[in-house]
Amino acid sequence: MAAINYDERIPNNVDLSTNKTLQRALEHWQPRFLDWWKDLGPAMFQNKDVYLRTATSVDQTGWATFGMVKMPEYRWGIFLADPKQDRTIGFGDHIGAPTWQVVPGEHRSTLRRLIVTQGDTEPASVEQQRALGMTAPSLYDLRNLFQVNVEEGRHLWAMVYLLHAYFGRDGREEAEGLLERHSGDADKPRILSTFNEPIADWLSFFMFAYFTDRDGKFQLKALAESGFDPLARTCQFMLTEEAHHMFVGDTGIGRVVRRTVEVMNELRTDDPVKVRAAGAVDLQTIQKYMNFWFSSSLDLFGADISSNAASYFAAGLKGRPDEQLYDEHEALGEYSLEVPDGTGGAKVETVSMRNAMNEVMRSSYLRDCENGVKRWNKIIEKGGIPFELRLPSPRFHRTVGSWANIPTDPSGQPISPDAYAAGLCSWSPTAEDQAFVASLMKPVLEPGKVASWIAPPDRGINNLPVDYEYVRV
Ligand SMILES: [Fe+2]
Ligand SMILES: [Fe+2]
Repeated sequence: MAAINYDERIPNNVDLSTNKTLQRALEHWQPRFLDWWKDLGPAMFQNKDVYLRTATSVDQTGWATFGMVKMPEYRWGIFLADPKQDRTIGFGDHIGAPTWQVVPGEHRSTLRRLIVTQGDTEPASVEQQRALGMTAPSLYDLRNLFQVNVEEGRHLWAMVYLLHAYFGRDGREEAEGLLERHSGDADKPRILSTFNEPIADWLSFFMFAYFTDRDGKFQLKALAESGFDPLARTCQFMLTEEAHHMFVGDTGIGRVVRRTVEVMNELRTDDPVKVRAAGAVDLQTIQKYMNFWFSSSLDLFGADISSNAASYFAAGLKGRPDEQLYDEHEALGEYSLEVPDGTGGAKVETVSMRNAMNEVMRSSYLRDCENGVKRWNKIIEKGGIPFELRLPSPRFHRTVGSWANIPTDPSGQPISPDAYAAGLCSWSPTAEDQAFVASLMKPVLEPGKVASWIAPPDRGINNLPVDYEYVRV
């Protein structure tokens, strides 16, 4: 196994020092990255000690070390999962052929675009979250936010390494572009629209980490299957970091729900007005935030019928998440999906499986999302409250794919535009809901204390107590 070398300026397990040209190019990019981090990374706390984990090896067990670090001194580096000997392409038209160790000429621009699009989301999310530290509900949460942020920064490094190492001058230019586009910038926005919205409050942050980061997880899983081996190995290691981001979202929402249930039981009420007056988030508002973030994350998978997705699969560039779970890997069959029939209903359309790749990914994502919802509902049920959180139908509130701009209710029933306009205020967060959630966002920075709207975590980080001083503020 290639050990991670921390003696070099850029920690890595790719023998960077044996390729001086590449090393110099990345060392030239490094100060630009740090400038970006200082300008557009977390808005405060840059000179504070934060209890962060850093990768020390890339195998599944014990890859992390924990310690107090000031964020600008975090050791961002280049870590690829270990190569598998004689790995072959696992899907598509080239199934069984050896994987590529260099970029095949005919797939160069497609691969570059896939890498740039993935890479662009990583710094974008750091930019979207930059103000959240100022309203953290606890030091534990503040630390988790920063852990996610530094790891998204490292994911940017992961993609920049591929661009520099395998795409020559175009790759170096794209790496510059990743620092030049900024979330929400009118002239140079981030590539995907979801990544241009600021994440204004912690409820949104937890929803983002649960729903939107999970789209990232599925994209990485699909790229981890790639026939371009350096990309596959890069994404395999990114996935081990990504698991923590899902955890932050899942437990974050669970703790908000737990606190709400406690308040409802203390006050013996199911009146959302009273729940709010007690400084907790009513379950109806949590449902609305879920509706919004789930539906906007579904859009990130792209159109349900897509010839691009089919060609990525055919060429062996991007597989299905967990490709090994499928019986056959050429995806030569058919796939049936429901599309609008043009007269206010739905009809079944059958397309080739390859053309439905985005939909295949989206449905495994959807099943994965349901696990958290079940856990949150368990908390509500245990509290004896007759209320159930539900994922809305994938038809609801879409802006991409067959159901884009088709008015439906959250159950997916097509309705008139007027009924949709009238219903939206009870299905999606209103300005008033957002103002209420914003009003709860007051920093709580004393060790062991948490804000009124969220329950404390079950346990601390790395076996430390919950009241440990995770950020020395
Ligand atoms: Fe990431
Ligand atoms: Fe992430």
